[in-house]
Amino acid sequence: MLANKTIVLIISGGIAAYKSLDLIRRLRERRARVRAIMTRGAQQFITPLAVGALTADKVYTELFDREAEQDVGHIRLARACDLVLVAPATADLMAKMAHGIADDLATAVLLATDKPVLLAPAMNPKMWENPATRRNTEALRGDGKKFAGPKSGEMAERGESGVGRMAEPLEIADAATDLLLHRRPPTPDTAKPLAGRRIVITSGPTHEPIDPVRYIANRSSGKQGHAIAAAAAAAGARVTLVSGPVAQPDPAGVKVIHVETAKEMLQAVKNALPADVAIMAAAVADWGVASEGDQKIKKDGSGHPPALDLVENPDILATIGHNDTLRPMLLIGFAAETQNLIENARSKLARKRADWIVANDVSHEFGVMGGDRNTVRIVDAGTVEDWPSLNKVDVAKRLVDKIATFFSGTAVDMPEAEEQ
Ligand code: CTP
Repeated sequence: MLANKTIVLIISGGIAAYKSLDLIRRLRERRARVRAIMTRGAQQFITPLAVGALTADKVYTELFDREAEQDVGHIRLARACDLVLVAPATADLMAKMAHGIADDLATAVLLATDKPVLLAPAMNPKMWENPATRRNTEALRGDGKKFAGPKSGEMAERGESGVGRMAEPLEIADAATDLLLHRRPPTPDTAKPLAGRRIVITSGPTHEPIDPVRYIANRSSGKQGHAIAAAAAAAGARVTLVSGPVAQPDPAGVKVIHVETAKEMLQAVKNALPADVAIMAAAVADWGVASEGDQKIKKDGSGHPPALDLVENPDILATIGHNDTLRPMLLIGFAAETQNLIENARSKLARKRADWIVANDVSHEFGVMGGDRNTVRIVDAGTVEDWPSLNKVDVAKRLVDKIATFFSGTAVDMPEAEEQ
């Protein structure tokens, strides 16, 4: 598939460097020629010998390498290829790239290349979230650099999770193949009512770990949130669905980010923004366990159950509602209430700075959670719309129609086809 294509693979110094070995294998399976550059940091994690054995080529490590300068030189290395792939891309390397620093072979090649550049970031979630890294990522995107990942999940650091894990080698190889073969995601269908709109949706429950085998959960099935994602995608929107653990299949044409905990969900939502609309349909656990144990909690023979120390989780809707930079033009929350439906929905609307609340009275309609039907009222600051009892798919379609009406007459800023 990639015969006649040459990829310069830059491996920088992160623990994910070990995955680059598999990435080389994946790229070579597709018949690409891979020329590897390793930073000093990368060589702390894997050896040039292992990399060279897999690329079946010389491994480049030094900017001022007499042999290499005569042989190829960093300028030729930067140009005599079809793609420069950086995996893992550390926060440090991205910072240098964003500022045009060229103080080693990897950064000099990145500054000198006129070929497409694909980055697979890998770092601790706190480093990924850091405003400096956010700025650098935006600057690199603005410079036309493409990204694969990072993903959310467990980090190498014990007990840490969040967004920052390097995408899997196969996903990176796919992103590289798409770029090399000029395969682009389909352009938005302008005839559709939400064409060009970006929508972020949360769905399902969250799981809050107690110990390695137990967690706190709730009965949310994700049916309503997933149905909204499917309906929005069918209406032409570019949808990112941030889903807790559910049995629902990923809706077609939707980018799905799978998370477990409320904290991971918040981070994934922040990463997916900015957007035109955010719809928070997830039943986010209000509390997590203060310190998740490393070991399974055992009965101690005293007959007394262990005390679980709970801490309040971040409120995703309220966090986004109060963040003027991230807040989309239309922010929609859900509220399941057993009493004083409108009053409680209005107070949530104000407290969380949402525009609409999709409220349902769960006191009579037992089985909304996990069931197929929903009777909702749409509450905004001044009005209440009563909808009849509908199938969740029909609630989703009607909500998407209402969103389309909200935006009708407003110009769409047509985005370019996205990477990944
Ligand atoms: N929500 C959220 N993050 C949380 C809790 C809730 O984003 N940690 C969102 C839900 O996705 C929903 C809305 O807030 O859109 C209302 O959720 P609900 O559980 O009804 O609100 P609470 O703030 O938990 O209020 P209550 O006191 O009724 O539990």
